[in-house]
Amino acid sequence: MTTTKAVLLLLLVLWTDLGSAESGGSHDESAGAPIVLPRHPNGLPEMQQMLIEMRGELAEQRAEIRLAKGHVDVELQLLKIKNRELERKLEALEDSNADLNSTLKELQNITEESKVAFSVSFSVSSDVHIGPHDKDTTLVFDHVFSNIGNTYCVRSGIFTAPARGVYQFRYHIFAGGSNGAGAKLIKNGEQVAAAYNHKAPHDINASQGLSLLLEKGDRVSLLLEAGWWVASYRGHMTTFSGQLLFLM
Ligand SMILES: *[C@@H]1O[C@H](CO)[C@@H](O)[C@H](O)[C@H]1NC(C)=O
Ligand SMILES: *[C@@H]1O[C@H](CO)[C@@H](O)[C@H](O)[C@H]1NC(C)=O
Ligand SMILES: *[C@@H]1O[C@H](CO)[C@@H](O)[C@H](O)[C@H]1NC(C)=O
Repeated sequence: MTTTKAVLLLLLVLWTDLGSAESGGSHDESAGAPIVLPRHPNGLPEMQQMLIEMRGELAEQRAEIRLAKGHVDVELQLLKIKNRELERKLEALEDSNADLNSTLKELQNITEESKVAFSVSFSVSSDVHIGPHDKDTTLVFDHVFSNIGNTYCVRSGIFTAPARGVYQFRYHIFAGGSNGAGAKLIKNGEQVAAAYNHKAPHDINASQGLSLLLEKGDRVSLLLEAGWWVASYRGHMTTFSGQLLFLM
């Protein structure tokens, strides 16, 4: 109920009350809570005075309420501005959180991708040689010391680069001296390097090592040239190793 309405209602109750006082009647208790007024033989001027005072108070209260409402409005506007600011900040944080998440995922991927290393040899347990063959053959090392990232295939003898990067390869060839021994490092079917030792009156060794920038999917293997041989002795004296140095 507005203040004006309340005052009108009050006036109505007052007049009703006065009328019943003049006619000598009493209050009807069921008609709601009556307002108790000072009884005075000459009540009307007093009533007027009271109304004037009330009007004054009312005006004061209205002014106070307007003032308070003004403050509240200002506060509300400030809060709204602050709220918008906070919303913007939250959005920015969510964006940067998403960015960080994807960066983290990328880093996790890179960390996983970077775990590439293999070392292999022959599993033949008697002291025998592979070769000499009458045509070039890929050396298929079937004894696996390590094959992190599963990039070396024990069936084909081929390493496949899982990602673009610099990879280091090393191999050591050991053989009896009654035949020339060695192997070529092959990348995608092309010779990159070779290690070879002529036949000799004693056991022979040949080794090679190099770093290559490989694209994802590049294939690297060792090739035994026609007429060459390598020992697959039980001591694992012929080995082939590769590892990713860093991604590019
Ligand atoms: C970021 O990652 C966390 C934890 O995995 C997840 O709870 C959150 O919802 C992600 N946030 C976004 C914006 O992708
Ligand atoms: C992370 O790796 C997975 C699977 O290997 C791939 O689906 C995903 O797109 C990669 N995410 C990023 C950010 O590189
Ligand atoms: C090759 O290596 C083996 C084993 O390490 C060794 O016995 C042999 O003497 C080496 N050959 C030469 C020519 O150094």
